[in-house]
Amino acid sequence: KKVVLAYSGGLDTSIIIPWLNENYGLDVIAMVADVGQGEELDAVVEKAYKTGAKQVVVRDLRDEFVRDFVFPTVKAGAVYENKYLLGTSIARPVIAKHQVEVALEEGAEAVAHGCTGKGNDQVRFEHAYQALAPELKVIAPWREWTLKSREDCLDYAEAHGISVTASREKIHSRDRNLWHVSHEGGELEDANNAPLATTWTMTRSPQEAPDREETVVIGFEHGVPVSVGGMKLEPVQLVELLNEIGARNAIGRIDLVENRFVGMKSRGCYETPGGTLIVAAHRELEALTLDREVSHYKQHVALRYADIVYNGLWFTPMREALDAFVENTQQNVTGTVTLSLYKGNIGIKGRTSDFSLYSNDLSSFTMGDSYDQKDAKGFIQILGLPARTRARLLQKQKEA
Ligand code: ARG
Ligand code: SIN
Repeated sequence: KKVVLAYSGGLDTSIIIPWLNENYGLDVIAMVADVGQGEELDAVVEKAYKTGAKQVVVRDLRDEFVRDFVFPTVKAGAVYENKYLLGTSIARPVIAKHQVEVALEEGAEAVAHGCTGKGNDQVRFEHAYQALAPELKVIAPWREWTLKSREDCLDYAEAHGISVTASREKIHSRDRNLWHVSHEGGELEDANNAPLATTWTMTRSPQEAPDREETVVIGFEHGVPVSVGGMKLEPVQLVELLNEIGARNAIGRIDLVENRFVGMKSRGCYETPGGTLIVAAHRELEALTLDREVSHYKQHVALRYADIVYNGLWFTPMREALDAFVENTQQNVTGTVTLSLYKGNIGIKGRTSDFSLYSNDLSSFTMGDSYDQKDAKGFIQILGLPARTRARLLQKQKEA
């Protein structure tokens, strides 16, 4: 009997392999998902075997991750609690999807993950499992075993001959992929502590960034970023390049006290350099090309969409329905945006689109023929009818 484990090579998922052997008598198939975490995957595979995995399956999910999961959230404008670009949240459903596929292909009876019982990630994985293959049994060791801390895990690992040398010094919980890296734990657990300089791993600090501005031009087609500096790029390459450009200019660091789905507040620091540039540019292009009513309504959709992604409800009719709305809004979100980057700041140097609704003739301070200012009088007069009526009533009440 087999179980497919979402395996990262980290401490938690490493000890889960012998734990599943011992406590469930299951053969472990370790699924290694490449979502651009930048890890040496050969070493991860070797470690899984050494730790007792019967089989290791590596899947390169980078293209699918960016194309089918990240870019839809960009089009939706989804940002959680004003800041978080959902880097971890959006990676869970693609990993879970492939984990389920492997389980069905290999005839496994269960799937397992290394998330704690206090976090969001468990919800995201398990909601996806249920939506895609409700017959699979779900094993969440963190909710079952008696290990309470990182130290307990280290001891368990040593007792089972799993090398933990690198893990002893690591104090943060980190999650990295193509879109972002997250940092939690360590000094960050006190919300009043500034992050240490060594906590950030992807971006430069503003102090270390170059003393001159860098200009970057991002091109979009139907809301999807497709080029940088006029050069067409595939999604993965595009994000990688913008990550580099953003990172050297100290773009995309955020520090957030957030509301977890399970109820508590937690504090995390996130680095999303390329994503921050893409989201900023996309917003500018929408300002130029979206109809006002659509644009304003879309802000509500963006909030709901962010909650759905954060809460792990990707595989739901609601997310699909919102995607249909968003897709429709993106028809004309095609054009280019020029950004200026300087020590962590993003300036807008220009935006242009063949579908621009911005009319120089209409909005210019120079008087043109296409707008008759006299029309505004009647517009305001009728708009003010309820206000005048109410004002008269209030005056009468005051006099009485
Ligand atoms: N708090 C963020 C979220 O819920 C990041 C979670 C990071 N997860 C991790 N296993 N380190 O999306
Ligand atoms: C975890 O608890 O496993 C990581 C943090 C989270 O899921 O929110």
